[in-house]
Amino acid sequence: MSPSSFLFLSLTIFLCYFNQFVDANNLIQQTCKNCSKSDPNISYKFCTKSLQSDHRSQCAKNLEELGLITIKITRHNVTNTCDHIKGLLKKKNKDPFIKECLDDCLQVYSDSITTFRESIRDYKAKRYEDCNVKLSSVIDASTTCEDGFKQNNNVTSPLTKRNNHIFQLSAIALSIVNMLNVDKFKGTF
Ligand SMILES: *[C@@H]1O[C@H](CO)[C@@H](O)[C@H](O)[C@H]1NC(C)=O
Ligand SMILES: *[C@@H]1O[C@H](CO)[C@@H](O)[C@H](O)[C@H]1NC(C)=O
Ligand SMILES: *[C@@H]1O[C@H](CO)[C@@H](O)[C@H](O)[C@H]1NC(C)=O
Ligand SMILES: *[C@@H]1O[C@H](CO)[C@@H](O)[C@H](O)[C@H]1NC(C)=O
Repeated sequence: MSPSSFLFLSLTIFLCYFNQFVDANNLIQQTCKNCSKSDPNISYKFCTKSLQSDHRSQCAKNLEELGLITIKITRHNVTNTCDHIKGLLKKKNKDPFIKECLDDCLQVYSDSITTFRESIRDYKAKRYEDCNVKLSSVIDASTTCEDGFKQNNNVTSPLTKRNNHIFQLSAIALSIVNMLNVDKFKGTF
């Protein structure tokens, strides 16, 4: 960790610590427990580890804030994976099949980045059903990318770990959106 990010993290923790209304770790644990219960694809351990590792979620006051942060963590993961794929595509002597798969992955993940912009807009406007559809398409992008490599038994996907991260992170975000949608209707009736 660089000195400046350490300072920033310390400051974040300091500010959260003295705000007695923020109990972010409890919120993260509660949320992850509920997410992993409602979706067997979500691991409780992965969920808490991912959300606690981001300093922004340490200040989340409620589920709505935590959900937005989760979408942003997922977007960051996808953006980083696009850059990683571009790096792989620049390497020479690639197998043509692998190149084709990487091109397809880059295509679906680049589309996902656009989708995130729209999903955040939906989220902020509490259009949770629309947001659900968009986050589901990000989950699909991760399985589409991974499945491409499976069409040839002789190759192993160089993106398995990243695809799994994106699959789980977007499933967590989707799960939170669905909880908020339920709460919204509870409030109406
Ligand atoms: C988790 O689920 C329990 C039981 O349904 C509920 O009382 C609680 O508010 C939920 N917590 C979060 C953070 O959604
Ligand atoms: C879990 O993942 C599988 C594989 O992508 C999917 O078919 C299934 O619908 C997921 N389950 C839930 C509850 O989302
Ligand atoms: C993506 O998310 C996973 C799980 O939180 C994390 O381990 C990984 O470091 C993230 N990768 C990037 C590039 O952000
Ligand atoms: C996989 O490798 C085997 C042996 O090298 C070869 O006979 C086969 O055609 C390859 N399969 C594909 C789909 O490339």
